[in-house]
Parts: sequence; structure tokens; C-alpha cells
Amino acid sequence: MSSKMGDRTYRHDVFYKNAKKNNFASRAIYKIDEIDQRFKLFARGDRVLDLGAAPGSWTQYALAAVGPTGRVVGIDLLPLKISLPGYGEFIQGDIREVSVETLVGSGGEPFDVVVSDMAPNTTGVKFTDASRSAALVVCALEMTDRLLKPGGKFVAKIFQGVDFDDALMMLKSRFVRFKVVKPESSRQESKEVYLVAWEHRPEPLPMA
Ligand SMILES: C[S@@+](CC[C@H](N)C(=O)[O-])C[C@H]1O[C@@H](n2cnc3c(N)ncnc32)[C@H](O)[C@@H]1O
Repeated sequence: MSSKMGDRTYRHDVFYKNAKKNNFASRAIYKIDEIDQRFKLFARGDRVLDLGAAPGSWTQYALAAVGPTGRVVGIDLLPLKISLPGYGEFIQGDIREVSVETLVGSGGEPFDVVVSDMAPNTTGVKFTDASRSAALVVCALEMTDRLLKPGGKFVAKIFQGVDFDDALMMLKSRFVRFKVVKPESSRQESKEVYLVAWEHRPEPLPMA
């Protein structure tokens, strides 16, 4: 399928149309909605870290789910296209460079949930794209060591392909339970799937 045709399909798909109609920042909101409905990710009052937050639909979803007694901190290379209430915060930057102190803020409390919808700039070369996607997941998992509470939950997008198994090993060493899911709203032709994990271990297990 040519990229032009792909774009047309995307623009005209039902999730895209619904997102526009409902003033959601992107169609990606339907993926986190589906994952949340299935796995009960968020609770009122939770602290949520949203990696790769722009343009902002997962942040919109998390803010509504946790409510004003919670906190949602987003980070992205690009700016958000939504405005935030007082219990939301956004940091523009690269997750590989931001400090833990900046992310936890003055309260210094770790998060209940870490979500990552990060995606690399795709090249069209499957090997490169999958390897870069897995590297972002590895980075997000390393961040959970310092930023996610024991017992906490984690979601991350990953492209299936090279380095997928290594990322899965890292996930298993940090979480008691996990599933690999392909939300209905994720385009079938896309290699993306989501890792959903619960029961964050206090310390990672040694990897075999
Ligand atoms: C699919 S979009 C996220 C969509 C978002 N979840 C939403 O619902 O609006 C992927 C995002 O990952 C971000 N990203 C990729 N690499 C990153 C990095 N190293 N640090 C921070 N953000 C990154 C991109 O800038 C892009 O905005």
C-alpha cells in the first residue's frame, strides 16, 4: 500500500473521525480506552506518567480517569495540543535525557502507572524501526525501576520484530504478570502491539 493510500485510510477511518468529533487530540485515545476497560489500569487519585504524550489524547484520558485528586505527568519531544488542568503537567524533552527528579516533581512520590505510546520516527525499514521501538521500550522499563511503585502497572507500545524478545525478557524480570495485546483500534497493517504488565516487582529479577 502506498503511503498516500495509507494516509487516506487513516484519515477516513472511523476512529479518526470519532476522535475529531469528540475533540480528542488523536485517535490513539481509543487504544488506551480499550486497554483500560480490559485491564482496569487507572483508579481515581492515581499518579500517572505518560511517556510520548503528544499530541495528548492519552493524557486527556488519564486526566479524566484519575480525576483532580490524581496527577498526570506527560513528556514528549513535541508540544501537547491540549491544555492541562492544575493536576496535569507536561515536560517537553527527550525521555533519555530527563532526570528522575524532574519527573517525580517536588512531592518525590513514585507513580502508580507508567504508560508509553512512544514511537520512533519510522524509516520504512522494518529492522531499523523495530529496533528503535524496542530501544524506547527498554528505556521506559529502566525508568520504571526508579519511578514506578512496587505493585504498579505499565503499558508500552512496541513494534513486533527484532529485539522484541529481549524487551519481553526485561518486562518479565520487572513484572509478575503481563499480556501482549493488539487493540481493535490499532490498524491491522501496523506492526504495533502493546505490552500490558501488572504487579511491578520491588527489584528486577536477574535476567537469565
Ligand atoms: C504515537 S505518538 C503518541 C500519541 C499520544 N499517546 C496521544 O495519545 O496523543 C508517539 C510520540 O512519541 C514521541 N517520542 C518518540 N521518541 C521520544 C523520546 N525519546 N522522548 C520523548 N518522546 C518521544 C514522539 O514525539 C511522538 O509524539
